[in-house]
Amino acid sequence: MQVDRTSVKEKSLVFIGFMGVGKTTVAQIVAKKLYRDFIDIDAEIEKEFDMPTTDIFKLIGETKFREKEKEYVLHYSQQPLKVISLGGGAFMQDEIREACLEHSIVFYLDISWDSWKERLHMLVDSRPVLQNKSMEDIEELFHERKKTYEEHNSAFITDDFDAEEVADYIIDSIKLAWEIYD
Ligand code: S3P
Repeated sequence: MQVDRTSVKEKSLVFIGFMGVGKTTVAQIVAKKLYRDFIDIDAEIEKEFDMPTTDIFKLIGETKFREKEKEYVLHYSQQPLKVISLGGGAFMQDEIREACLEHSIVFYLDISWDSWKERLHMLVDSRPVLQNKSMEDIEELFHERKKTYEEHNSAFITDDFDAEEVADYIIDSIKLAWEIYD
């Protein structure tokens, strides 16, 4: 097995969490403040197929979307100095989870069900995974995925904070880790 010798300071930062929690917004701010490249995995896939995720699911299928998601995450998570936002379902794939935890630093953006459900109406049109599901089904998926997101390096409960505050907290915690481990 090849050992990953990327220093803690150079490891890429990966953001995970349920749909609509704010991964892309927070990751974008963090990337800017740390002068790093920002990668949004969903945007990469959409660019490749030249269509939004809802159409990819409808016309090409979720299986192909998940394959591409794996390809992109495995590629970018092993590169240094990136800030990467993953789609909410990506971390459910074993290979993605293992690669991110091995090669990068994984930040879990958490949110309570009560806060999240207020956002559902803004998300449903662009999130095929939420379409044609009852509230009970969505709540079950929310809690089911939480168990997998628990495999992270650092977590933040976002309920009472805006994206800028979350990003600042994360940057402070990264800087502390750099001091401790480097
Ligand atoms: C998905 C989440 C979406 C996107 C796709 C599937 C999921 O990303 O990857 O619609 O399975 O949770 P966001 O988490 O950015 O909404």
